[in-house]
Amino acid sequence: MANLGAFFHSHRAHEPAPEVMAAAHGRVNLIGEHTDYHQGFVLPMPIPQRTTVTVRRRSDYLVRASSTAMQPSMVEYEIGDEARGSGWLDYVQGVTYVLARTGRCALTGFDLTIDSSVPPGAGVSSSAALSVALLRALRIMCRFTIGDLEIAQLAQRVETEFIGAPIGIMDQMSCSLGHPDKALFIDTRSLHYERIKWPPHAGLIVINSGIVHAHAGGEYAVRRRESFSAAALLGVRYLRDATLDSLERVRLPSPLDRRARHVITENARVLEAVQALRDRDPDRLGELFNASHLSMKHDYETSTPEIDTLVEIAQADPGVYGARLTGGGFGGSVVMIAHAGRAAAAADRIATAYTKTAGIPGTVLVPDQSMPRFPRV
Ligand code: GLA
Repeated sequence: MANLGAFFHSHRAHEPAPEVMAAAHGRVNLIGEHTDYHQGFVLPMPIPQRTTVTVRRRSDYLVRASSTAMQPSMVEYEIGDEARGSGWLDYVQGVTYVLARTGRCALTGFDLTIDSSVPPGAGVSSSAALSVALLRALRIMCRFTIGDLEIAQLAQRVETEFIGAPIGIMDQMSCSLGHPDKALFIDTRSLHYERIKWPPHAGLIVINSGIVHAHAGGEYAVRRRESFSAAALLGVRYLRDATLDSLERVRLPSPLDRRARHVITENARVLEAVQALRDRDPDRLGELFNASHLSMKHDYETSTPEIDTLVEIAQADPGVYGARLTGGGFGGSVVMIAHAGRAAAAADRIATAYTKTAGIPGTVLVPDQSMPRFPRV
């Protein structure tokens, strides 16, 4: 799994410190949306697009960061002076901020270059990929003994403690622990995870709707609050512990009843999807995708008219078993399960029809024609 790991780069004699390079892939969530902050179940999977970082230790405390894709392309700050509000640099600052707070790593400054093919705002975890890649590189640079699960937990703290996005741990665990061609089934209560092989006779499609989403504040935080109010009224701390029976008995006010119903039914769908993956049953997986989308559209209300259009076009395509919005919502991407060997053609058809109907360019992220073997199509 060389492309998911980290390794020393070439070391020229006149340079004071070796370069360390590390990478992390973005992810698509197959199913299990808005369940992770309720200690529920999720089923993400890595996508081919990834973020690669190169760091070289400095003898002072300056971090000089440059990015090939983002503006401004070069920025700097001092370790200890991290302050939010600098766009993409916030994720870099967040990493040094949380690392320093572990008290287990003697951090110096470093020169950093970032190169990423994970599109930001597409619901495929560009920020988690950056945080995880940088943590992997700094783990080597600082000789910091830390496991991959802890990397995921630190990357989550970057979001919750530094960026101010009250997210769960799905994205960071997927970026840190996911393997290509394998779905990562996570119980976000125990943090137990299991990699499940993607069935060879099913294809995967991910299309970016072009509607940019963001999680810091906004609707994501509103949904989170509403769902915790619903949990409290049902007498549980997390909706993982609520049941449809308790929802019948207590009769919550709208929209809290629908918020709770989404999380309860979505947790059940993840467990069924895991079974369908094991049974190699793409028909069942497709039905679960479709049901999950309806639940997000009507109960959790995280979809948008453009996303619904894209989902409907996909669901009507003969090469597709099922389709749903993936990720936090309010924009981003749609994930589809396709007939084996037909994913690439279906993806082209669907993206073209969406672009025409919605008037916004839809971009096919998976299958990635530049890496046709990852993941399987
Ligand atoms: C975002 C968050 C995740 C998760 C999803 C919704 O991706 O980062 O923690 O809550 O939204 O399933």
